[in-house]
Amino acid sequence: MRINFVFLFCLLSCYSIAQDVKITHGPYLQNVGEQEATIVWTTDNDAISWVELAPAGDDSFYAKERRQYFQTKDGNRVVSKLHKVTIPGLERGTEYRYRIFSRAVMVDKLMYGDVASSNVYGKKPLRFTTLDSKKSEISFVILNDIHGRNDDLVALSQNVKYGATGLMIFNGDMANYMNDEQQFFSAFMDKSVELFAAEVPVFYARGNHETRGLLNRSFSDYFPTNSGKLYYTFRQGPVHFIVLDSGEDKPDSDIEYHGLAQFDAYRTEQQEWLKKELQSESFRTAPYKVVIMHIPPVESDWHGSLDIQRKFLPLLNNAGITIMFCGHTHLYKYFEPNAGLHDFPILINAHNTSLEVKVTKNEMSIKRKDTSGKEMNGFVM
Ligand SMILES: [Fe+2]
Repeated sequence: MRINFVFLFCLLSCYSIAQDVKITHGPYLQNVGEQEATIVWTTDNDAISWVELAPAGDDSFYAKERRQYFQTKDGNRVVSKLHKVTIPGLERGTEYRYRIFSRAVMVDKLMYGDVASSNVYGKKPLRFTTLDSKKSEISFVILNDIHGRNDDLVALSQNVKYGATGLMIFNGDMANYMNDEQQFFSAFMDKSVELFAAEVPVFYARGNHETRGLLNRSFSDYFPTNSGKLYYTFRQGPVHFIVLDSGEDKPDSDIEYHGLAQFDAYRTEQQEWLKKELQSESFRTAPYKVVIMHIPPVESDWHGSLDIQRKFLPLLNNAGITIMFCGHTHLYKYFEPNAGLHDFPILINAHNTSLEVKVTKNEMSIKRKDTSGKEMNGFVM
């Protein structure tokens, strides 16, 4: 009789503290390289998380046990509401299938709760393909200055699909403010996940608006890169990409930054990094060298733009840059190379147009399209 009471007590107490968990945002791909990829998502409660990975194929995801990859730190599985699982040891230019899992954890009670996962019963598992520096032809799309306008995001990314688009590049100011997680996910990222970001790798150049709000200090937690910084490089096919973080546009002392900004020193830090980066073998041997940066180093006499002009342009000149893509001004403008200032073209994309770029061995073609899909301009580099 005593045993039955103990059993009943355990049953009731376990039932009353069982923790639910739901996937609230994501998953989306970050830091996809030739040999690794990171999958990011969030949950409403603390959880440990993992990714199950399968090679490409038509067999069921349940055909056999799939390898599991956990998010770990210092030998522990991470318990968090933000999940970033890095998968190492991948093959170059190879397609994989994946699904995600989160198991609720009540750390104070040392108990597990429910499990949430992406669906592979009713629909196909998610996919991604690793980058490939040997690829002869690639494509990518650039968007910038969406400022939370989901309708424009949908219209401008209508051609962005797995298999059709190799990469998506967000060139800053996708959100207006980064006050909290809900604000920036609802501004553009939830819609991006729904449309493409779970399967098409996203590379992000931070804009000045993403430096604003309390969550800006956690920006790299949501968008991890291969350098651990918000400036980094990556290679896809014949293109070596350099992503720079132009910081804020006004002087650090401006009242709008509340005494918290240190962007002059940050741009100097990038200047030193850039000197070394331009010596790398991948950069020197790449047929195309593309710079992605939110604030243009031209067209403005504001402090941020002038600081970039002083610190980055002397290094990029004579380095064989194919083109620099910028945003920020919300107005399209194309600058031919200007001797003494920038020896490469600079294209500022507008807030309501996308750039669809295709690169082959012989040429880089750029199509600027509006929200109806109509081609506004075309360039062949
Ligand atoms: Fe901006």
